[in-house]
Amino acid sequence: MAKQEYIIAPSILSADFARLGEEVDKVVSAGADWVHFDVMDNHYVPNLTIGPLVCEALRKYGILVPIDVHLMVQPVDSLIENFADCGATYITFHPEASEDVDRSIHLIKKNQCKAGLVLNPASPLSLLDNFWEKLDMILLMSVNPGFAGQDFIPSVLNKVSTLRKIIDDKGLKVRLEVDGGIKLGNIAEIAKAGGDTFVAGSAIFGENNYQEIITKIRKKLD
Ligand code: DX5
Ligand code: ZN
Repeated sequence: MAKQEYIIAPSILSADFARLGEEVDKVVSAGADWVHFDVMDNHYVPNLTIGPLVCEALRKYGILVPIDVHLMVQPVDSLIENFADCGATYITFHPEASEDVDRSIHLIKKNQCKAGLVLNPASPLSLLDNFWEKLDMILLMSVNPGFAGQDFIPSVLNKVSTLRKIIDDKGLKVRLEVDGGIKLGNIAEIAKAGGDTFVAGSAIFGENNYQEIITKIRKKLD
């Protein structure tokens, strides 16, 4: 895969929320391609984060890059329209959390957003059956959803390569995003396995110099 097709999507879960607009501006100026926006509801996952109003606030602040909304919520559908109205670009959700996966995908697309399904480390790839052609993105979790700063689960690498092969064999134009525990030390092997879109929260926002860390990460993808 050509290196310009790699996307780096810092997860704002590890940003300083008291200065969120500034933080996102800084990380985008430092070379981030997208913003990864983790939505947790204290129901589907045991943590509570941010909602559509924060997404809208980032747009109003002037953030123009794609916002990649990762819904870790149940139910799913009631938030889709809200996020679409508030400036989301991608909306991904966990199929286990939706009453009707097809309906949720359709709702995302009807609202002019790009749709993706998220698989937890233990979720089978068969959850994607029937939906392959409808997806703009598949998000593979490499930690159990709920918290930033966890360790990458190594067995997910096999899943990345299996998925990459299926995507290529089917000739699909779907992004393969990996989320959780991605760092300077493991991003190259995740890319080698076939990931093309990388979420990194603590690895980027935990550094003082975003430009330096993103440049280093990008170099690992050369
Ligand atoms: C976990 C979230 C991730 C998380 C990534 O539930 O979906 O996006 O913020 O954080 P790091 O990169 O620190 O593992
Ligand atoms: Zn996420």
